[in-house]
Amino acid sequence: MDFNLSEEHLAVRAAARDFAQTELLPGVIDRDNAQHFDPVLLRKMAEMGFLGMMVAPEYGGGGMDTLAYVLAMEEISKVDASAGVIMSVNNSLVCWGLEKYGTEAQKHQYLTPLASGEIIGAFCLSEPEAGSDATSQHTTARLTGDHYLLNGTKNWITNGNTSSVCVVMAQTDVELKHKGINAFIVEKGWEGFLVGKKEDKMGIRASDTHTLMFSDVKVPAENRIGEDGFGFKFAMSVLNGGRIGIAAQALGIAAGAFELSLKYSKERKTFGKPIADHQAIQFKLSEMAMKIEAARLLVYKAARLKDEGKDYIQAAAMAKLYASEVAMWVTTEAVQVHGGYGYVKEYHVERFMRDAKITQIYEGTSEIQKLVIARELLK
Ligand code: CAA
Repeated sequence: MDFNLSEEHLAVRAAARDFAQTELLPGVIDRDNAQHFDPVLLRKMAEMGFLGMMVAPEYGGGGMDTLAYVLAMEEISKVDASAGVIMSVNNSLVCWGLEKYGTEAQKHQYLTPLASGEIIGAFCLSEPEAGSDATSQHTTARLTGDHYLLNGTKNWITNGNTSSVCVVMAQTDVELKHKGINAFIVEKGWEGFLVGKKEDKMGIRASDTHTLMFSDVKVPAENRIGEDGFGFKFAMSVLNGGRIGIAAQALGIAAGAFELSLKYSKERKTFGKPIADHQAIQFKLSEMAMKIEAARLLVYKAARLKDEGKDYIQAAAMAKLYASEVAMWVTTEAVQVHGGYGYVKEYHVERFMRDAKITQIYEGTSEIQKLVIARELLK
């Protein structure tokens, strides 16, 4: 597999790195403390084309491949993992799904403003009693004439308040189990659509995560995505790609913590020499670098397979599982390398450690990734 990056890939990576350093780094600690992502920054991300990178230019996107998207995700997440998740949900879960499975009318009405970042999207699958067990949807959508009546509650929704448009999975026929699930495009502001409480999270605190509630929300029938009963397959297909984005986010978190640790180890002195001269630290740095490189290869491989139109379900699950485990391990070691300084906010690594944890949970926990990999191996 060829990982030689093209001129375009290198340019995208350089632009994302520059944006992260100049725009995201100042204020990242304040945003984490305030649990708030500055809308002005979000606008700048949109202007840079980071919110619809893989969408065709005719729908307002950047027309780039998955590898370019992964490179940008890594650089953004190296500095601000909250920006990473906002970007990942809009790109992989909302825009990609609409472009692949939406009707022409849906694309013109919703995908174009989403891809340009004029509006932000959210993906609503998880429920109070349906996280890993995603087929157990309790949200219902009942067809009455030319519209569906949507009722239920969705939990832990990234961009819950920031978003203007949500892709919502709901049960339309309980008898048919997962084959009776549909996906709908639902607009904020429609009667009966309520934004519930904001979660006070351990990590990715600047991104907003909310409960969303639907009470007899009238959703036009033409806002259903795909054939009747396609909703669960839609969600699974979208998540296969989404997992590559989260894997890249995890890779970025690990790489960001590693770069800070490398720099710090050359500056900080103990026992009369830089801590980088102590073998105890060298062993940590070596292992961090090796694991990050292995994660990067898995993430790039999954992206390449997707771009080549090959099966990438197992590769995406492996990339997400491994990169998120590496992110957790590397960030914990990064705090250790920094010692007491690592435990305070000013040095960034404690935030990376908190941010890393969610990558083992959302878009399929590590345990679900193992299940997906095993099913692919055994089928
Ligand atoms: N790709 C394509 N199709 C898939 C699939 C995949 N990865 N996984 C399952 N399917 C298909 C199956 O082939 C099956 O199709 P048929 O009906 O044609 O046979 C159908 O979906 C049902 O699958 P299963 O019978 O395997 O269902 P299950 O209940 O045993 O297991 C699961 C399904 C894999 C556990 C699934 O529920 C799952 O992936 N759970 C995790 C959910 C998840 O990732 N949630 C993330 C929420 S979004 C989020 O986190 C966003 C954010 O905040 C950033």
